[in-house]
Amino acid sequence: MNTLDLCQYAPVIPVIVLNRVEHAVPMARALAAGGVRVLEVTLRTPQALDSMRQIAAEVPDAIVGAGTVRSAADARAAKEAGCQFAVSPGFTVEVAQACQELDLPLLPGVATASEVMLAQSHGFRFLKFFPATAAGGIPLLKALAGPFPDVVFCPTGGITLATAPDFLALPNVKVCGGSWLLPQDAMDAGDWDRITTLAREACALRRP
Ligand code: 3PG
Repeated sequence: MNTLDLCQYAPVIPVIVLNRVEHAVPMARALAAGGVRVLEVTLRTPQALDSMRQIAAEVPDAIVGAGTVRSAADARAAKEAGCQFAVSPGFTVEVAQACQELDLPLLPGVATASEVMLAQSHGFRFLKFFPATAAGGIPLLKALAGPFPDVVFCPTGGITLATAPDFLALPNVKVCGGSWLLPQDAMDAGDWDRITTLAREACALRRP
């Protein structure tokens, strides 16, 4: 799989922080029911790897990836947990090489022109732009389109249902990332219907 294939399912990739393993499968099913099949489960909680394993085993509609991959060890753990792709908040040669050796498609993070150049020199042309809003948002993405017409982005960080359409309207944006589909109170309450509704709303953002 190529990471660009991840963009064909929905205009948003949810960034997921799971605190309870037993929430992993119902949450993944709720998102998939709303049309969101590509899931970035972040390696930010001790439950993350078990959650990925369960989603990979029990939710065939879901395409689960690991977010917050910061080392080669993270990449190996993600692959062993059944992840189909990895996302890193920044770009390091260590993570890029580990993912290439593991045959684990990587969406690496960048926030500057230098980082875009580094990522490109390692063969990446689909990049996470993180933290999108804090790092310069839409004006920076427009500016990067000049020198990098061959690079496309998944902006993530500070994006909401209200602001996503402006990002998705940019020619160099293929998909947005965001945690707004998984409000903490809905997760805590196991309010899966609400998460399905949020997923449906996110899917409706697709460009015509
Ligand atoms: C990420 O890890 O990509 C971000 O934390 C997601 O950003 P958001 O919570 O502002 O959507």
